[in-house]
Amino acid sequence: MRILSGIQPSGKLHIGNYFGMMKPAIELQEQGEAYLFIANYHAMTTVQDAGALRQMTADVALDFLACGIDPEKTAFYRQSDVPEVHELAWLLSTLTPMGLLERCHSYKDKIAKGIAASHGLFAYPVLMAADILAVNANVVPVGRDQKQHVEVTRDLATKFNNAFGEVFTVPEPSIRESVAVVPGVDGQKMSKSYDNTIEIFAEGKPLKKRVMSIVTDSKGLDDPKDPTTDNVFALYRLFASEAEQEDLAGRYRAGGLGYGHAKTELLEKLNEHFAPMRDRRRELAEDMDYVEDVLRQGAEKASVLARTVLQKARQAVGLE
Ligand code: ADP
Ligand code: TRP
Repeated sequence: MRILSGIQPSGKLHIGNYFGMMKPAIELQEQGEAYLFIANYHAMTTVQDAGALRQMTADVALDFLACGIDPEKTAFYRQSDVPEVHELAWLLSTLTPMGLLERCHSYKDKIAKGIAASHGLFAYPVLMAADILAVNANVVPVGRDQKQHVEVTRDLATKFNNAFGEVFTVPEPSIRESVAVVPGVDGQKMSKSYDNTIEIFAEGKPLKKRVMSIVTDSKGLDDPKDPTTDNVFALYRLFASEAEQEDLAGRYRAGGLGYGHAKTELLEKLNEHFAPMRDRRRELAEDMDYVEDVLRQGAEKASVLARTVLQKARQAVGLE
């Protein structure tokens, strides 16, 4: 089984990214041949500052390595070090119906948020299909918001295979329904574009401030509370065992537990979970040469595969 996923370096990674995409990707590296890349070409649709793009790319590399990506098991690379994806994107785009892209929610959402409607933004799903098909991945772990893009990829792979013969593997998305949408501090989907995130590598006072700002209802200390509708509980669940969840849910229902207290328990869980990763990140940041080596070797491995797939596709369409 070949597994591939990617993430845009367009801001600080948050616990929505962690549970929706990073953790599943890290776990999947034990189950097959894994490919993971930093989608810096995709990020150019929203980040138009060279220094910022460079910095965020390095940050994402550190974040993933600190969280448990093992370069021995996963080919970890920068998208721009495998430029073969662009040629493949062109081959695919000649088969892509305009209507298919016009229906993509992510494009419509981004436009609604005021992002410039560039051709790159519109064609974003075609480049994403090329990322996936370039290594003929079977499984693509993503959050629910990316499911439609994997469906576009499936459509394009099928269309290409029908038109030119079997070149591409039709991939499956892998989505953890239980954590498919992690809520932000305001209760909406956690997203860097809503300024409602809890960052994975935040710590100390800023982290505490963020956790204390989680929106709750206005029930008083003694009132019984409903864990199923509360944001603090929804986040606590992600870090807690079944028994711990039941224990906290019981104390919510009984009354006498204030939201401030629940937030403190969540903060403890966050610190406990991420402390080893914060230490590891600090160590790695001292050795950027090592990080660069990892990315180069990952790109080499992905390129070998991408060149083979591209060669087959070029032959199939009549370029060779
Ligand atoms: P953001 O919404 O912060 O811009 P991205 O769109 O860059 O995040 O998402 C990167 C990855 O993390 C994707 O696979 C996405 O599905 C996943 N993801 C992002 N936010 C969440 C969330 N709140 N819950 C679950 N998964 C998420
Ligand atoms: N579009 C994805 C996101 O915003 C990132 C991405 C680019 C990706 N190419 C991909 C994810 C290929 C999985 C597979 O999160």
